[in-house]
Amino acid sequence: MLIEGEPGIGKSSLVRAAIAEAADARCVEFWGTGDELGQALPLLPLLEALRVRELADSPRRNTIVRLLRGELAAAPGADVSAAVAEQLLALIAEECAAQPAILVVDDLQWADAATVTLWARLARSVHQMPLLLAGMMRPVPQREDLLALRRAAGERARLRLTRLPNEAVAELVTTLAGGKPGDDLLRLAGGAAGNPLYVTELVAALERSGRLTDTGTGTIALADGRTPASLSAAIADRLDFLSAPAREVLQAAALLGVDFAVSDLTIVLDRRIADLMPAIDQARAAGVLADSAGGLSFRHPLIQAALYDAISASVRATWHRATGRALAQAGAPPDRVARQLLGAFGEPGAADSVGRHRRRAGRSGTPGGGGSTPLCGGGLPGRLGPSWPAGKQARRRPLPGRGRGRGRAGRQLRARPGHRHRACPGRRARPPGRPALDAGAVPPPGW
Ligand SMILES: Nc1ncnc2c1ncn2[C@@H]1O[C@H](COP(=O)(O)OP(=O)(O)OP(=O)(O)O)[C@@H](O)[C@H]1O
Ligand SMILES: [Mg+2]
Repeated sequence: MLIEGEPGIGKSSLVRAAIAEAADARCVEFWGTGDELGQALPLLPLLEALRVRELADSPRRNTIVRLLRGELAAAPGADVSAAVAEQLLALIAEECAAQPAILVVDDLQWADAATVTLWARLARSVHQMPLLLAGMMRPVPQREDLLALRRAAGERARLRLTRLPNEAVAELVTTLAGGKPGDDLLRLAGGAAGNPLYVTELVAALERSGRLTDTGTGTIALADGRTPASLSAAIADRLDFLSAPAREVLQAAALLGVDFAVSDLTIVLDRRIADLMPAIDQARAAGVLADSAGGLSFRHPLIQAALYDAISASVRATWHRATGRALAQAGAPPDRVARQLLGAFGEPGAADSVGRHRRRAGRSGTPGGGGSTPLCGGGLPGRLGPSWPAGKQARRRPLPGRGRGRGRAGRQLRARPGHRHRACPGRRARPPGRPALDAGAVPPPGW
């Protein structure tokens, strides 16, 4: 299933809600996300989804980890990325043999080419195993491989999310504003073109500026005043309410990505966690940050993008480079360092920095530091060394709930990174008649 639609239209929320509805199904859930800065790191969303990070009990996972580390050579003539892709396919087949699986790759528009290729192969084999495959993508940037994916999916496996109907917008405004919207407010919300993120940001902006008043009869009336004219203006309005110190902290966080670990933020800013807490608390209260599975997360990627884009390109490149260095010195996993150094590309000398880090990672024995057979041999154009999927947390954001205040936080949807066993928390026994694939096996031809 491919779900398409403009930013903020509700793709991720829809899939999260659908998965939550399917909670009773005895299935395992995997969730990975394409990442703008991680595009040069092959297969990262799938490695992240399947939580292939450290040596584990599973021979298959160990094979993948050792390939990534360069401890295991790919077959002659094959590059490491291709070998890892084959192993990932086999791993997914094994997971499906044990129990039905849901595999989600969000933000496919930022996924690397190897992930898209593997997604296409999986899409061809979904009828042969109990696998629900879901991918979400924005219409831009347009990519040939994604257009091919769309064509292959056909009409039946494609869902294009369009604007919310007017009644749904009215319901959403009622929920967000905490009462029945008056005609003026409804008309204004109509200008958000049925985009739920825009509606949410718009109502929040109106509320912040004190333009929403309860008439006492349960109707929320709109007072005169300035109105954000676009989604980005509404987001900017939210950010304008932050203090300068909080904004500075958030810009550093934006450099780390949509999801980030607080520990990384302390490294980047060279400040203690206690010093950062006031800014973080303020950002949480302002609806800019939310808790996520492994740390903190911007409430929406567009909020992170607004902060990121507000940093001038040259400052950003320098800052990325310094961040990469600081993370490397602190022993952060190579993929987190690599994301930063890739962000600095364009700045003279950045490629050298990546090379230096790669050589150091090779010596340090950190995951992905094998050096001799880099994962990116085929995927990354010779600029970056081995990569390693660690530390990136999947997004976990709320849908608006009911009523003012608590409504904002809403119901926490349950999609999480990596797999989760439903109704069957322990390791499952393999059903009879379903042979395990051995560690060296690859999926049958034609996948
Ligand atoms: N059907 C809906 N009703 C009410 N609110 C919704 C609905 N769908 C999405 N939202 C809200 O709209 C916002 C944007 O949704 P979401 O993040 O799912 O969009 P998206 O299409 O995945 O965007 P992006 O392309 O940027 O990832 C979220 O705050 C979400 O809670
Ligand atoms: Mg999304």
